[in-house]
Amino acid sequence: MRTLNENTITDAVLEQLSGTPNPRFKQIIEAAVRHLHAFAREVNLTPQEWLEGIRFFTEVGQKCTPYRQEFILLSDTLGLSALVGLMSDKRTPGIHTDTSLLGPFYRQNSPRFKLGDSIAKKTKGKEVVLWGRVQDANGRGIPHASIEVWQTDELGDYDMQRPAAEEMDLRGTLESDSEGRYYFRSVVPAGYSIPMDGPVGEMIRAQNRHGLRPSHVHYLIGAPGYKELVTALYIAGDPHIESDTVFGVTDSLVVKVSDPEPASPFPNLPQIKYDFTLSAAGKDEGSGRVGADPSQITKNVAAVH
Ligand code: BEZ
Ligand code: FE
Repeated sequence: MRTLNENTITDAVLEQLSGTPNPRFKQIIEAAVRHLHAFAREVNLTPQEWLEGIRFFTEVGQKCTPYRQEFILLSDTLGLSALVGLMSDKRTPGIHTDTSLLGPFYRQNSPRFKLGDSIAKKTKGKEVVLWGRVQDANGRGIPHASIEVWQTDELGDYDMQRPAAEEMDLRGTLESDSEGRYYFRSVVPAGYSIPMDGPVGEMIRAQNRHGLRPSHVHYLIGAPGYKELVTALYIAGDPHIESDTVFGVTDSLVVKVSDPEPASPFPNLPQIKYDFTLSAAGKDEGSGRVGADPSQITKNVAAVH
């Protein structure tokens, strides 16, 4: 029987994990054990503090419903989602649009819209046309790309945060035309606070952070033969563009709401023009999503919010 101490315990655990058959799982879990143990040693973690950590993670799980994903929010606010996305971007070869967070407010099966439709059904606000092309790395338009968009209203709320959370608004699915062009109407979204009424909000307040995201529109774009693009466009001039609480903003994704122009599909509306570049699908890792529709990862929970 070996004597365990605060240093030998790590090897003892790794030894027990050594028979893990899946090599990638083995690599991940071994690294997780090494880093978790190093973290506990570095801060000299006390039993009381670890219990407090367990209380926190328990509350994060308990806060999750089909309309609320507190674990994604935790990953986002700790910069882990952004890090995983940035590493995925780096592995993607060739020219492509930068990615940004999927976030906890994505929903599958959003209503289908025709090009030119408005995705704002119940929202007042400054009307705008969003338009451009979905193209490949050589600038050739990608026809019939699927474009899912979602955003907040002029008050900074997603449909899932309204009292009738099941009713979809300010989100939709479109298809680019035969030359890769897309255009739709919406309202200019407002920046917003991430949900602060749960354990992640408690953590943000304890860190003296503001918990705000700058105004943005999310895009999830896919086409056969291309890597799915998860990104967002951030509206220039928002006061929190430099201090996004979830680290999603990159210069290349900051856009202006410009004055109307004759070449626009809606020449009388203010406009946000942006071309998205998709990279060819690699054989490695598929989508760049860090996150999912909350209803898809919350099992056996009644649809409460
Ligand atoms: C969002 O952009 O929808 C979002 C991303 C991360 C945390 C909260 C919201
Ligand atoms: Fe968002």
